[in-house]
Amino acid sequence: MKVDVLLGLQWGDEGKGKVVDVLTPGYDIVARFQGGPNAGHTLEFDNRKFVLRSIPSGIFQSGQTNIIGGGVVLDPVLFREEAEALEASGLDLKKVLKLGRKAHLILPTHRMLDAAGEKAKGANKIGTTGKGIGPTYTDKISRNGLRLGDTELADFGDRYAAARNRHLEMLHSLGADPDMEALAAAEEKWVDAVAYLQEFEFIDTEHFLNKALDEGKKVLCEGAQGTMLDVDFGSYPFVTSSNTVTAGACTGLGVAPRRIGDVYGIFKAYCTRVGSGPFPTELFDEAGRLIRDRGHEYGAVTGRERRCGWIDLVALRYAIMINGVTKLIMMKSDVLDVFPEIKACTSYRLPDGRETRDFPFTVDGDSAPEPVYTTIAGWQTDMTGIKDEAELPAAFLDYVSFLEKELGVPVEILSVGPDREQTIVRKR
Ligand code: GDP
Ligand code: IMO
Ligand code: MG
Repeated sequence: MKVDVLLGLQWGDEGKGKVVDVLTPGYDIVARFQGGPNAGHTLEFDNRKFVLRSIPSGIFQSGQTNIIGGGVVLDPVLFREEAEALEASGLDLKKVLKLGRKAHLILPTHRMLDAAGEKAKGANKIGTTGKGIGPTYTDKISRNGLRLGDTELADFGDRYAAARNRHLEMLHSLGADPDMEALAAAEEKWVDAVAYLQEFEFIDTEHFLNKALDEGKKVLCEGAQGTMLDVDFGSYPFVTSSNTVTAGACTGLGVAPRRIGDVYGIFKAYCTRVGSGPFPTELFDEAGRLIRDRGHEYGAVTGRERRCGWIDLVALRYAIMINGVTKLIMMKSDVLDVFPEIKACTSYRLPDGRETRDFPFTVDGDSAPEPVYTTIAGWQTDMTGIKDEAELPAAFLDYVSFLEKELGVPVEILSVGPDREQTIVRKR
């Protein structure tokens, strides 16, 4: 069997959580492959709402195994908070969730380093989620990290102390003055949370998944963040610190590239971004405000206002290419229900006057392109109650056809509201 991958094609918050939940009944295993509690994946069903940060979005369906893979960075304290809230809601989480030994641990001092690093960058700060993501991946790549499997080793305490002391030296060299009392309190909670982690089953994800695939099990890999936040292909340096693209599923889970089957690319009918960094189609006018209000575009983790803009087909074409997307999923179509006209950026005019459909090396500062827009008629119909493709307004279907032509990949699922039920799987 092959694994299917589901990931975001924009700057995150495309609606990955909702769609993973919708697609899970077709799979045996759902696996997160990168990122950490910087993610906020929202699921709504039966008048209930959940925001998942490290735990895969397949946990609410029945019978599937969910895995936190080795490419993920795990904060034991935040994981415990998330897991205990789910257990309190009645979910038998320890039965449905397994943890990969290769996942790296976020230490309390990683969060302090994240804050100090942002402060040192001043006006050039990335606008991180402050969850210690960058410093934890930095330790992984510089071969200084602590992994979940290390907590089973006899010398884990020594390894922890060495890492923490190294971090304190780094904090001092950044001019930070760490609050040692606050650190001691955070460490106490962290040690307790590491003990709580032991109540879950640890697995060697690579063996577990490859055996499952050989036995004919169906696996869905869940991405976090989005392609334009990928550390190699995103708007560097305003990115996160992991590979959010399809290749990240291979390294994050230990599945070979030839095992990749369908790649579901998720995008919103418009665009958003949280934090700093270039955003060619960003709107600063009434249209941008209307999108933010109607789409409730505020961060699921930090509550920060999301920057809003028109759909960017230059960036989307690039994301589809990098990921090898085979099926597109369009989210939040209903947010545009009231607009008489909708714009789509089909190419960029570069500062030297040239027009391009290919995403350039950088779109920041002096290299900022001017978006070239095509204007499309709006449908001005409330689509939130529509269940069948045949009932969708013709102008909306024209917009979808226009996108398919521009992007060269079929749109297979249309989302018209946050609830599980507000999802239209197109008949082909
Ligand atoms: P993720 O990080 O990609 O999982 O996305 P988030 O959960 O951060 O952000 C998506 C937001 O849009 C959440 O609040 C969802 O409940 C909501 N949402 C998802 N799909 C739709 C949709 O089709 N329409 C509307 N109006 N909201 C949606
Ligand atoms: P989901 O999975 C949107 C952004 C941050 C910041 C940059 C780096 O919910 O789509 P980090 O804390 O990762 O070092 O921050 O990346 N960012 C996200 N933006 N959705 C996310 O996740 C994000 N995770 C990180 O805002 O600009
Ligand atoms: Mg999110």
